[in-house]
Amino acid sequence: MLKRLEELRAEATDLLGSASSETELEELRVRFLGRKSELNQVSRGLGGMEPSERKAVGQAVNALKKELGALLEEARERLAGGGDAKPGLDLTLPGRRPWVGRRHPVMRTLARLEEIFTLLGFEVALGPHIEDDFHNFEALNIPADHPARDMHDTFYVEGDRLLRTHTSPVQIRTMRSRKPPIRIIAPGRVFRNETPDASHSAEFMQLEGLYVDRNVRFGELKGVLTRFLRELYGPDVAVRLRPGFFPFTEPSAEIDVECRVCHGRGCSVCKQTGWVELLGAGMVDPRVFQAVGYDPDEISGYAFGLGVDRICMMETGIDDIRLLMENDLRLLRQV
Ligand code: DAH
Repeated sequence: MLKRLEELRAEATDLLGSASSETELEELRVRFLGRKSELNQVSRGLGGMEPSERKAVGQAVNALKKELGALLEEARERLAGGGDAKPGLDLTLPGRRPWVGRRHPVMRTLARLEEIFTLLGFEVALGPHIEDDFHNFEALNIPADHPARDMHDTFYVEGDRLLRTHTSPVQIRTMRSRKPPIRIIAPGRVFRNETPDASHSAEFMQLEGLYVDRNVRFGELKGVLTRFLRELYGPDVAVRLRPGFFPFTEPSAEIDVECRVCHGRGCSVCKQTGWVELLGAGMVDPRVFQAVGYDPDEISGYAFGLGVDRICMMETGIDDIRLLMENDLRLLRQV
């Protein structure tokens, strides 16, 4: 009997030492240590042995069980890669990096714009998202029957309250609560009841600018916006002013920069023109000054407005404005 145990020991040691998978180990465990194993049968037969033989065989069986148990454990650790590693853990894989939160691309663009205008002496002013007819339209020289209202597809809240369609009402609020000189930018969300597509969203971001003082001239408007665009896009950027129309400025201009994508050669972003319209601007209309109680003979100023999303899209190469509102992390992690 002892000789048979010695044979079992040699066989099991050999097989456990060369086992190459978890399944193989489990099979060996069942075969040598399981309920139906030969070793277990010997254990169960101990009762029928002579006392002297029983003692010797019993000790040998227990010692062998212990030894095989230890070998099995050793083989498991060897397969798992050693140490106190868990089975199946590959310590040679690179670690998984935690995702670090960061600013949304539109907020990054906005921060940059605010930084530049702050350098140029502007301070940030804010206004409410829910406006009233007076601030959003009337005081900006857009009376109820004015055709410009058609361009602002408005979400009405109740009565004459509405979601602001532009940041220009902040001009009115600021001028009504302060005296010139005023030099502000007003960034923020605006809302239009439009069918969304790649270039339209019901909700987007504008940045308004206003400078009001005595003897403000158009040349200062051109100078400050050219300076702004050079800070944003580099000293060589080509800038173009075209005559435009806004009810709250006279004269008005639309300001283009050379397309950032094709550098003026023509591409889909600039619709083959080589230019991208970035800003609306002009000299504050005397009727706006009257609406806020300023004397247009004494006070003059300029205003401008720009679309933050458009600048962000050119910066990041995102070509659908809706993606900027959807907040799909798979996209945001790439830009
Ligand atoms: N409020 C205009 C809009 O939403 C943008 C704008 C144009 C603002 C000219 C201005 C300006 O202050 O002078 O379309």
